[in-house]
Amino acid sequence: MSVVQIRPSVYWIGVNDRTTDLFEGIWPITQEGVSYNSYFIDDHKKVLIDLAKSFKTDEFFEHVKEVVPISKLDYVVMNHIEPDHSGVIRILRQMNPKVVILSSAKLKNMLEAFYGITEDVNTVEDGESLDIGNRKIQFFSTPFVHWPETIMTYDNKEHILFSCDGFGGYGALRGAIFDDDCKDIDFYEKESLRYYVNIVALFSRPTLKAIEKLAGLNIEIIAPSHGHIWRKNPLRIVELYKKWAGYAQGEAEPGVTLLYGSMYGNTERMMNAVAQGISFKDIPIEIFDTARTHVSYILPSLWQYNGVVVGAPTYEGALFPPMVDTLNYAALKRIVNKKLITFGSYGWGGGALKTIKKIVEPLGWELIESYEFNGGPTDEDLKKGEEFGKKFAEMIVSKK
Ligand code: FEO
Repeated sequence: MSVVQIRPSVYWIGVNDRTTDLFEGIWPITQEGVSYNSYFIDDHKKVLIDLAKSFKTDEFFEHVKEVVPISKLDYVVMNHIEPDHSGVIRILRQMNPKVVILSSAKLKNMLEAFYGITEDVNTVEDGESLDIGNRKIQFFSTPFVHWPETIMTYDNKEHILFSCDGFGGYGALRGAIFDDDCKDIDFYEKESLRYYVNIVALFSRPTLKAIEKLAGLNIEIIAPSHGHIWRKNPLRIVELYKKWAGYAQGEAEPGVTLLYGSMYGNTERMMNAVAQGISFKDIPIEIFDTARTHVSYILPSLWQYNGVVVGAPTYEGALFPPMVDTLNYAALKRIVNKKLITFGSYGWGGGALKTIKKIVEPLGWELIESYEFNGGPTDEDLKKGEEFGKKFAEMIVSKK
């Protein structure tokens, strides 16, 4: 992709990444990709906002050269130091030793730790403005959206908020960089939710604080560092983030995440019976085989819906290990306040339920009922399973 003008004197100079398989070394993006958006403001002072991951060095600097000679750059605003946005900083400094870095004080310390850079770093305070010619750019401290050093930058002439990770999402750009040019906005909103839950959700409270803090700004464009630029409806992504962050504090939407694992198909048969019972009610249901699905794709459903079904066998006196992993990730991301039912097969003695309780009780998940059966499910077990699912769905629906 080549450089795109966003407004007179403001340019998108980002890059797509369709090569990285695991974002942060954890979260799969092989199919979806991701973009590292950076921006250039062409004023009396020449300003870059955020950078790119180091393996994109060549493409990134080709983009910069399209809009400004690198030797003419005055400032680079580093909103956030995570290396997907800062990886090319050392080479930028080699190409232009005079460029001044603008960042929070916390980022300045981290800059030395990550890149050994200490010279010409000007720190900015919360709310501070910098006159760059025909406009001012203003800096807002937004700690933990995503790391503690994070700021957002506001262009007071064009009313653009450069929000870095905030309001971002997975998904490489398919040519179009604006929300109103995008042909498949549902895909990007779904990938924004997955990104939110994988990356930002633990910091939901700081996210809500940041949204509250920025509410007074006249924002015409949200320009995050991952995903689309929101210009037709900039508040759409803010409202989505607000809704998702709110799930960390209260109850989520009525719906069921059905997690299962099965060694020889016995628990799977019961899972199908339970799912059938749930399906009698008009309620969303998502089903995941925890042994075959990366938890990155499961977490958004757990985050979004208030009901969870865990169906897994006892394995060596405890819970089926892929289910342990999934529930541990839910604990890591502080997914709280769910209604839960569980079921599973055991060979010679149970144990799965004990492990489930140990993981989810500290998260405030309320265990409604549990059903274990020995070996394969009988017709009677399957009938009970269906009833079990139906009763649970009725309970979830009543929370609508
Ligand atoms: Fe996109 Fe927290 O880095």
